[in-house]
Amino acid sequence: MSAKIISGTEVAKQIREEIKAEVQELKAKYGSVPGLVTILVGENPASVSYVTAKQKTAKELGFYSIQDNQPEDITEEQLLALIDKYNKDEKIHGILVQLPLPKHINETKVLYAIDPDKDVDAFHPVNVGKLVIGEAVFKPCTPAGIQELLIRGGVEISGAEVVVVGRSNIVGKPIANMLLQKAKGANATVTVVHTGTKDIAAHTRRADILIVAAGKPKAITADMVKEGAAVIDVGVNRIGVTPEGKAKLAGDVDFDAVKEKASLITPVPGGVGPMTITMLMKNTLEAFKYSLKNK
Ligand code: GUN
Repeated sequence: MSAKIISGTEVAKQIREEIKAEVQELKAKYGSVPGLVTILVGENPASVSYVTAKQKTAKELGFYSIQDNQPEDITEEQLLALIDKYNKDEKIHGILVQLPLPKHINETKVLYAIDPDKDVDAFHPVNVGKLVIGEAVFKPCTPAGIQELLIRGGVEISGAEVVVVGRSNIVGKPIANMLLQKAKGANATVTVVHTGTKDIAAHTRRADILIVAAGKPKAITADMVKEGAAVIDVGVNRIGVTPEGKAKLAGDVDFDAVKEKASLITPVPGGVGPMTITMLMKNTLEAFKYSLKNK
């Protein structure tokens, strides 16, 4: 079997068109648009490029958007005051503080300061709790992108054996919780394997849907995959430099070998990555709609 390669770039484009159309409709009806602020502390090059991409997408979709750059030496108190200002700003529906933060700032304290109704990253414990009990308003962006790719890729999730490789708070734990809910696009039997698992391959070989967020190139080889499985590769590993001087990326899955065995596979780059920013925009739109309901 040679797998269908599902392009996150294409699916993300389609979802962005849907968001853009809905923003236009809501603007005509209510005279306002979703507002997103991205707060960047310091000048970490990777963070600058992520935040720039988020802002560019927000503008393309017709959002009101603010890029708030703060110096590396901003105090925790000043950053908390800034978040408080945006919590109270009626034009802002989504607040994103780009991580990592400088060492002198307590990241947890900062993330907990964001109004849960504006927490479009879905990192606040209130939103994590809502996700676990099946009441999520916002789903964290990368897991939401994975779920959307499975649904739009025509993968049957209900009743499937899902194996998640990796237990991070950003990907592994939330996607496992999302897919086990009794809900549309979920209702799966979910196993999470991690560095403490005795025989990872024994689990991955059972998977109808294999989601890999291990943070290690070629963590998943063809012998670890069931014939016909749907394989979602969340890994982004820098494995060298292209002749143009750009970072050469690879996922966590041995793509060339596994694609001969899987029924569906996501590439790296161009798979889960492009979906993440798009789901951030979807969450901002949801936050905006929620604010309209509560006016
Ligand atoms: N840094 C890297 N990825 C993310 C993300 O999804 N959200 C935030 N806030 N910071 C990040």
